[in-house]
Amino acid sequence: MRLGPHPQPLRRFAVRYAHSLAVSGAPPPRVCHAALARKLARLRFHSSNPALTNSIERGKASARPASNFSKRPIITAERLTIGYGETVVLADLDFAVPRAGVFAILGGSGSGKSTVLRHLIGLETPMQGTILIDGKPPVRGSGAPAYGVLFQSGALFGSMTVAENVSLALRKWTRLDAHAIDTIVRSKLRLVGLEGFENHLPAEISGGMKKRAGIARALALDPPLLFLDEPSAGLDPVSSAALDELIRTLNLSLGMTTVIVTHELPSIFSIVDDCILVDRAARGIIARGNPAALRDGSTDTRVHAFFNRQSQAA
Ligand SMILES: Nc1ncnc2c1ncn2[C@@H]1O[C@H](COP(=O)(O)OP(=O)(O)OP(=O)(O)O)[C@@H](O)[C@H]1O
Ligand SMILES: [Mg+2]
Repeated sequence: MRLGPHPQPLRRFAVRYAHSLAVSGAPPPRVCHAALARKLARLRFHSSNPALTNSIERGKASARPASNFSKRPIITAERLTIGYGETVVLADLDFAVPRAGVFAILGGSGSGKSTVLRHLIGLETPMQGTILIDGKPPVRGSGAPAYGVLFQSGALFGSMTVAENVSLALRKWTRLDAHAIDTIVRSKLRLVGLEGFENHLPAEISGGMKKRAGIARALALDPPLLFLDEPSAGLDPVSSAALDELIRTLNLSLGMTTVIVTHELPSIFSIVDDCILVDRAARGIIARGNPAALRDGSTDTRVHAFFNRQSQAA
């Protein structure tokens, strides 16, 4: 974080925040967020790191009644047309991502799921239409990343240890000292079950552990929004189920919104609250809602085929 006019008090709060994460293995109680926010407000602190500011705001918001909190969507997309060059991949998308849940972008291979995600995080510019995240266009540019992202390719830097990979954003975008960064990195790795693997190189851990390290890296700046593109692709069913559990736990305990792209039906039915199903031939959304409800209730043969292919065989 870029420290404002009162660096020392802020640093103390940040370290206490990190310490709380490290000691309990979980984020500090919500009241800590609110207290931190109040103290920072008294210090008239304005962070230039939107991720941290959002995190604090989220903490304040989480002290509100859940009903008010969850009703406002965190992302809205209207009349969104996206593609590359002259080629339209998906047109006229309208959808809203509810706050503090797990939202999935589903569809067949090549249907445009990653393309939607790349637009939501501001990597690509829509051909038409709008995307608003908390009322503002996606954050682009060279500042601190406002969202946590695990890309489909998801590569860690092979020459860096797991801890160095996770610490990258903290070193680049905050002025925390080495001890505070180390504390935060350890707490993130504990959160994803990788305590003790700090000094391993990516080549020395399994595929599932790499995914979890990637999630720890995405969580480094406490983002209010986490985007995961096929986090369990290539994992065995047991590792995949463990990863699902981790994603759900992070979502519940940190109160963050998770947007996930996945093909895995067991994951979809176990962790996803709400989804859109995109279709390449239709060039748009062919279904939306809760996946289990769509599986059981949709009369659209394409939707039925998507949600029943493996569950029928199982
Ligand atoms: N950078 C790019 N430039 C041009 N076309 C692209 C680019 N990335 C993807 N596409 C095209 O856009 C379409 C949608 O691709 P996308 O990667 O979004 O699909 P997907 O649903 O994520 O597929 P998968 O499940 O295989 O990951 C495909 O036809 C793909 O070839
Ligand atoms: Mg993809």
